[in-house]
Amino acid sequence: MRNSIIAYLFTALALAATSALADGSASAGRKVFKECRSCHSVQEGKYDTFGPNLYQVVGREAGSAPEYNYSPVLKNSNIVWTVVTLDRWLADPQAFLPGSEMEYILESAKDRADVIAYLIAAGKR
Ligand code: HEC
Repeated sequence: MRNSIIAYLFTALALAATSALADGSASAGRKVFKECRSCHSVQEGKYDTFGPNLYQVVGREAGSAPEYNYSPVLKNSNIVWTVVTLDRWLADPQAFLPGSEMEYILESAKDRADVIAYLIAAGKR
């Protein structure tokens, strides 16, 4: 009995991990984004934040928001921000692009999927 519960939990966790990317919830992501707001805005034309503006960041080339002085690493990365590259960046910016200047890690895969869904939704206004 105990073993089957453990087996069930492992299966559930594995499924959650693989489907989290596809299943992000924009409304949950809005709450996660509160952690980003100290440095970022998703509002079009709002450039007075510490970090770059994230309006329509999904589909955009990394390091290309106006009015922001990026690190050379991010500026020259030739990365396009997609669901996949954003997930890797948010999981560990320094591992993904060593020498970049974002000091923030979002450990939960679900929080990452949700906040990416929010970034997509916020860019559609
Ligand atoms: C403490 C401040 C800070 C926090 C908190 C923070 N960031 Fe950043 N972020 C930065 C800085 C600074 C950069 C620019 C890094 C560089 O130039 O190397 C950046 C860059 C980015 C970029 C690349 C933008 C572009 O135009 O290429 C994305 C995407 C991003 N952050 C998303 C997020 C998200 C989502 C969160 C919340 C989960 C978050 N950040 C939290 C400071 C922060």
